[in-house]
Amino acid sequence: MADASGGFISPEFVGRDRICGPGSLYTTSRHLLLETPVPPLAADRRPPLVVTEQINQTRQIVWQAQRRGSKVGFVPTMGALHVGHLSLIQAAREECDFVVVSIFVNPTQFGPQEDLTKYPRPLAHDLKLCEEAGVNVVFHPTVETMYPTGFQTFVEVGEVSEVLEGKCRPGHFRGVATVVLKLFHAVPADFAYFGQKDYQQQAIIRQMCRDLDVPIEIRVCPTVREPDGLALSSRNVYLNSEERRSALALHRSLQLAKKLISAGHTDLTAIRAEMFAELTKTPRVRAEYATLIHPETLEEVPELQPRLVGVVAARVGATRLIDNLIIEA
Ligand code: PAJ
Repeated sequence: MADASGGFISPEFVGRDRICGPGSLYTTSRHLLLETPVPPLAADRRPPLVVTEQINQTRQIVWQAQRRGSKVGFVPTMGALHVGHLSLIQAAREECDFVVVSIFVNPTQFGPQEDLTKYPRPLAHDLKLCEEAGVNVVFHPTVETMYPTGFQTFVEVGEVSEVLEGKCRPGHFRGVATVVLKLFHAVPADFAYFGQKDYQQQAIIRQMCRDLDVPIEIRVCPTVREPDGLALSSRNVYLNSEERRSALALHRSLQLAKKLISAGHTDLTAIRAEMFAELTKTPRVRAEYATLIHPETLEEVPELQPRLVGVVAARVGATRLIDNLIIEA
């Protein structure tokens, strides 16, 4: 579905429940629980997995698939795959005939004090999961392939990347937008799948695709959660058991905002303060932000709207976590 500005908006764009048939990963709930399995495909139904490292070779494979009439779906990741990533792969498989996953820990989106060197890289396990999930190609470039000596061009998206994560992690979205555009050139797919988990990231990618006329349709898929509500993240492995318990404060803060709005509270300043307090009162949690924003502009609106997004970020011990929830008034 093309929107007025010529970009593409997913028909099941965030905020709409996606309802699929029996056996599907999707439920009528916007937030999926880990109990919802992503079953591996039977061995005889899996395509042979091809692993590529070169941009040209990957592009040729995608073009070949499209020439054969296949719709190509693309899931960009940094690896350390979990059920959240697998849900994107499954969405791609449901809609497309040929699925490409990229695994690339992108150095340009990590700040100098961030976890680039210790970011988990369990490649063999990731490839096994991709094979079992029926992925056709894993694109796994080296840093030198993506950023050869002399690299000097970056993509900067405007206002939507300046707030929230953009403020807390200067340069982060410049790195994300740049690598995603480069990945889109290596994998010129028909559809690309992103998680609502990184709410601002998907908004920035959609903005970039509209502004730069990228002919790939962006799909946004629901956040997959642990049964107790913690959003799955590759960074959850850093949490010790006490921190794991404290990490639930993010989900609680969002649920509190939802509860207050459903109960008829309209003072957004007061609700934001309660969300923030829910984080700060939890041991081992250092709140960075907890607020309510407009779903498209990401601005902190002054008054209640039919749809808002609760967004939170906090350090739990040394681990920085984010989460969000779409709230309908
Ligand atoms: P990564 O953190 O590996 O996430 C890859 C994709 O998985 C993103 O679209 C993210 O939103 C989605 N995802 C993560 N946790 C999820 C969850 N619990 N439920 C549903 N989807 C989830 O995001 C990145 O990598 C990078 O910034 C990238 C886009 C690959 C660019 O480097």
